[in-house]
Amino acid sequence: MATGSTAILLALAILAASALSGSRAVTSPYVRPRPRTTLPELKSVLEDAQGQTPQQVHVSVVGSDRMRVTWITEDDDAPPTVEYGTTSGQYPLSATGTTTSYSYLALYRSGNIHDAVIGPLKPCTMYYYRCSSDPSREFSFRTPPSTLPFEFVIVGDLGQTGWTKTTLQHIAATDYDMLLLPGDLSYADFFQPRWDSYGRLVEPLASARPWMVTQGNHEIEKIPLIEPCSFKAYNARWRMPYDAGASPSGSNLYYSFDVAGGAVHVIMLGSYADYEPGTAQYEWLQGDLARIDHGKTSFVLALVHAPWYNSNRAHQGEGDGMRDAMEALLYGARVDAVFAGHVHAYERFTRVYEGREDPCGPVYVTIGDGGNREGLADKYIDPQPETSVFREASFGHGRLQVANATHALWTWHRNDDDEPVVADHVWISSLASNPACNK
Ligand SMILES: [Fe+2]
Repeated sequence: MATGSTAILLALAILAASALSGSRAVTSPYVRPRPRTTLPELKSVLEDAQGQTPQQVHVSVVGSDRMRVTWITEDDDAPPTVEYGTTSGQYPLSATGTTTSYSYLALYRSGNIHDAVIGPLKPCTMYYYRCSSDPSREFSFRTPPSTLPFEFVIVGDLGQTGWTKTTLQHIAATDYDMLLLPGDLSYADFFQPRWDSYGRLVEPLASARPWMVTQGNHEIEKIPLIEPCSFKAYNARWRMPYDAGASPSGSNLYYSFDVAGGAVHVIMLGSYADYEPGTAQYEWLQGDLARIDHGKTSFVLALVHAPWYNSNRAHQGEGDGMRDAMEALLYGARVDAVFAGHVHAYERFTRVYEGREDPCGPVYVTIGDGGNREGLADKYIDPQPETSVFREASFGHGRLQVANATHALWTWHRNDDDEPVVADHVWISSLASNPACNK
């Protein structure tokens, strides 16, 4: 479990009643600090001539007790091998995976992208590892707990600006078990070295806790006739466990997994994959939701890039087609919360179904405020819809602390001029524990 999470839960429990019955339809009056520029480019991957030195290391969960380690080297001969153990400097275990690379616009060739799946691993345990047998860099991660409580960090549209750096510092300052990212990672926007600088920027966090991501529009990077393959860099660099678990999807653009021994089921949807009835994603989602055993699974979460509910003027209606196609599936499966990105602001809705408040619908949250270079979306539709509980155009990140089988605490941490401030919070009761939603 995340260290300190219990203390935070206890402190904020006092506020629970007021949160659940608190004021509705708030548009925050907070005055935001000025935008920040993109961070200076970190050293180019092609300039790093250290051969087998691993870089851009990140980890993601595979099933209940394995972890995928992904890293990049310049040396073609660097083996896709991870050596690991529970004591620093000692690596009695190892696994060898695969290596790939890609070229883009005939101008850019990626380094060698390696990944290896290691395990079985013990839960809630620190593992030390090195990649490609390189002795110069030791990394470590902690495996997620196999029971509740469990703490997620959720942040979208991260980018690589000064605000991104602040957001990452705030995320790192308090412990957590897993990061979920609902799309728009690097804002490389066709310029591939930005994927490398992004990989370096997030490595300190992404090599230490599993980062589970889904795609946004900035990952598409398709150029008709010249680069006809969508998601080329994203799929090569951020492979997720779409082929693992009880419900393999067959596509890196959407997948699902369990955490905390199956107490929480997380569904990563693809806003930019086909989603209409009859499509592969729709059919997969239908099957995935049908497998949920609410006697065992307390909370069901979904992440998507383009929000299905949004009262910001930015990106109005862009998630409507997917919502029309899939909302009934999520509602029928008693999904507890849907987290989206895309809109560069924060907004929390009450439980909604078909546009109206519904006690058995998901809570909808837009958390596309990680710190990207496009700036904030600060124009809202007025009056604020009844279903929109709180909205504010500031950067920040969210945390979902699933305390037990019935309650989870959601908090939004606004950057607030370099000081993390909890600007919104709510306790979410699991729909599985609500008899009225399970007749
Ligand atoms: Fe986006």
